[in-house]
Amino acid sequence: MPIITLPTTPFDGQRPGTSGLRKKVTVFQQPRYLENFVQALFDVLPDAAGQTLVVGGDGRFHNRVAIQTILRMAAAKGYARVLVGQGGILSTPAVSAVIRKHGASGGIVLSASHNPGGPDGDFGIKYNVANGGPAPEKVTDAVYARTLQLSELHTADTPDVALDALGTSRLEGTDIVVIDPVSDYAEVMRGLFDFAAIRTLFAGGFRLRYDAMWAVGGPYAKALLEGALGAPAGTVVNAEPLEDFGGLHPDPNPVNAEDLIAHLFADNAPDMGAASDGDADRNMVVGRKFVVSPSDSLAVLAAHATRVPAYQAGLAGVARSMPTSTAVDRVAKALGIPCFETPTGWKFFGNLMDAGKVTLCGEESYGTGSSHVREKDGLWAVLFWLNLVATTGQTVEQLVRALWKEHGRCVYSRHDYEAIPTDKADALMRELRAALPTLGGTTVAGLPIALADDFAYTDPVDGSVSQKQGVRVVLTDGSRVVFRLSGTGTEGATLRVYLERHEPNPARQDLPAQEALQPLVALAEAVAKVRAFTGMDRPTVMT
Ligand code: G6P
Ligand code: ZN
Repeated sequence: MPIITLPTTPFDGQRPGTSGLRKKVTVFQQPRYLENFVQALFDVLPDAAGQTLVVGGDGRFHNRVAIQTILRMAAAKGYARVLVGQGGILSTPAVSAVIRKHGASGGIVLSASHNPGGPDGDFGIKYNVANGGPAPEKVTDAVYARTLQLSELHTADTPDVALDALGTSRLEGTDIVVIDPVSDYAEVMRGLFDFAAIRTLFAGGFRLRYDAMWAVGGPYAKALLEGALGAPAGTVVNAEPLEDFGGLHPDPNPVNAEDLIAHLFADNAPDMGAASDGDADRNMVVGRKFVVSPSDSLAVLAAHATRVPAYQAGLAGVARSMPTSTAVDRVAKALGIPCFETPTGWKFFGNLMDAGKVTLCGEESYGTGSSHVREKDGLWAVLFWLNLVATTGQTVEQLVRALWKEHGRCVYSRHDYEAIPTDKADALMRELRAALPTLGGTTVAGLPIALADDFAYTDPVDGSVSQKQGVRVVLTDGSRVVFRLSGTGTEGATLRVYLERHEPNPARQDLPAQEALQPLVALAEAVAKVRAFTGMDRPTVMT
């Protein structure tokens, strides 16, 4: 009998974090580790008869092995059809687009996003539901609970499925359809933006450097930018997805995409730079000698959205994660549209989009997106910027400076303290939380504190409540320091300290962010004693 049942025992620690289950590759390589998680997921999902599942990943090391395992288990679960990207490749936004286009009941994304890959790197798995977005917490909680009780696995005792040629094969009762990873996604993009205007921009000599960071965004960017939009060959660099991302850290921020920054700050720099991460859902946009912060990027897109064909009728509303700067709030206010503040994690935007309450969303962690899919979307953001540059005739820098002029600049930085022992990080947060009731109304490090709390979110659509989503210390002028522990790391804990200060005065808007934020850094140290708890005297990464 090709469909077989095997005994298994639970693994500890299979609780999905901010974005699925992420662990070292070596953890995933343990026999039955991935199998257990997939079985727990399939046990929690309803019957799959007649249903379609989408499967794909960012091509990192272990992707192909994991996909074969999942295909066998999907056959045992009884799916009618599995759509899998050619070579096992699908970017995260493409999975979302494919789920939606083909009416799939869900999809499995194999990625650890921006975390490094390779045999010593990270791997991850995440389930997306029928709207194309990450499973909500009630699903991920149920999956975790199930991982603790597993005693058997169901799989097919069959050879590997060929993944490199397009077409359909049969795995027991399930059709395995190998699809082109790019075409469904490209069709969605063509339906959103003014491709003619962007084509004219490139034809006029506009120069873009798109750094795909040796990750899955490469094939998508090449097909759309160099293919459909006529950008010169070589516009997309580091375009071939590699299993270890060339040994680099595929995270588009000024620290990890330093090569892109160097090109944009060189003499004869291109007009615009852009990068996407391991699974192509994050983006960074850079002007000539000008870095755009993700929070400002979201605000600029919101301010000019009606210039893009898909958003011509205006935005229903916008949303940002709590630690993201309030720049977009100011734009929303001026536009007279609602602005929602959610916890960190793209999954919180899904309900708002499904209910038609928001059109654009974004996060400080280099994620921006809209209701065209239910994931953030790196290339989408770059195409949006190109559409704006083409239709306004302004440069990237001019667009951001106009935002600052109208709304003031939300000077912003995130300080990360990585790989802290978990007990130390927990103790820091515990003490900080304990101090909250006495902080409001006091002055610390010379700064008057208006409010100090632990962010909690009530979903306006389904009423679900998420507690303890980050400590905020807000000053009387609206400046903020936010503290939270990352939910995506795989080594110890990462403390994130987010700093924001509003600067209305154009004469002071060019002060380097780290300098302008120094008083808030002192406040953060005074209230959280980061040095004492972590033993680190400076952050490991500042973006
Ligand atoms: C992923 C999620 C984002 C989140 C980011 C940072 O990219 O999709 O929604 O903002 O990770 O999460 P973290 O918990 O590490 O701060
Ligand atoms: Zn990502």
